Amino acid sequence: MRLINIESCHSGLILGQSIYNEKGTVLLAKGTELTEIYIQKLQKYNIHTLYIDDGVSEGIDIIESFPEALRVEAINNITEGLHTIADLQSEKPTLQKMMNSSNAIRGFQKVFREILQTLKENKTALNLLASTKVYDNYLYTHSVNVAIYACQLALANGLPLKNVEEIGLGAILHDVGKLSVPIEILNKPGKLTNEEYEIVKSHSTTGFELLRRIHEIPLLVSHCALQHHERIDGKGYPRGLEGDNIHPYSKIISVADVFDAVTSQRTYRRPLLPHVAMELLYSGSGTQFDTHQVRLFKEGIAIYPVGITVKLNDGRTGIVSNYNYSAVGRPEIRIIKDEENQTISPYEIDLAAFDCLRIEIIEADALLY
Ligand SMILES: [Fe+2]
Repeated sequence: MRLINIESCHSGLILGQSIYNEKGTVLLAKGTELTEIYIQKLQKYNIHTLYIDDGVSEGIDIIESFPEALRVEAINNITEGLHTIADLQSEKPTLQKMMNSSNAIRGFQKVFREILQTLKENKTALNLLASTKVYDNYLYTHSVNVAIYACQLALANGLPLKNVEEIGLGAILHDVGKLSVPIEILNKPGKLTNEEYEIVKSHSTTGFELLRRIHEIPLLVSHCALQHHERIDGKGYPRGLEGDNIHPYSKIISVADVFDAVTSQRTYRRPLLPHVAMELLYSGSGTQFDTHQVRLFKEGIAIYPVGITVKLNDGRTGIVSNYNYSAVGRPEIRIIKDEENQTISPYEIDLAAFDCLRIEIIEADALLY
């Protein structure tokens, strides 16, 4: 199986992984032969890449590092709960509303415990790209993804379970204030006006004000909403906190937040591949993000996911065929074209065994910008 751009798709190709909608219903099943009509429909759904099965990629299996069924279930479970909490914004919430919010929090805790359990058992590098989904509503998917990434990072920090669970709850709730921002502003394709940007920025304080009214939520969790856009160099918002004045929970969530935001499909832009997103985190390391957290995060992420096409510095082209857990960034590659760009009979190399070789270009290049 390999990942290709929708632009390179043509009729007759066999779909390697099912494509689901946000309810978890299959839109197009694995094994389907693509037709021009299907391809046009997928483009309408903003699908930029898809997995196909063909001769050259035979035997390359995509490892699901996080069960998709659990992720979809988590997204569905938190959707209503986030609205219940956002509803508290009215000046004087009724007792019923407060009780509903408490129930929502308990629901979030249950969702997160399942995520945590799964990640504790997971021995593979995280790759949420392996799932091809059509999500209309970004906020809920994003909240769950950030919880997954932040949980992985919290575990890598060796934090006690109580702290990991607080970070998870903080991650699910970090953007709850966005439910008060008009959707046209959130989904605006172009540049925001200053006024619009101020409205977007208000989501961190709005979220904090909402969350601190719910007494089941520890104050540190509410602070995840308040501080997740603070930057190490003090140029973040809302308070311009610097360095260690930013709580460790927020340092973790901000790395997870940005990584998911830039690797997610949005209606107005294409996603970045993991290695480009990682470079972006590195470029902000020490200014926007905590250096140690960026380094730890990298170790748990599949930077070159299985199935993507790469070009090596000696000119050969191949498909990433296996992830190398002992050497991040040095996967196994099935070479399919030689130095002269001629198609050859495929063979595998282990990049970890060749110090002189490195990955130069990712051929799913429509993703790179
Ligand atoms: Fe945010």
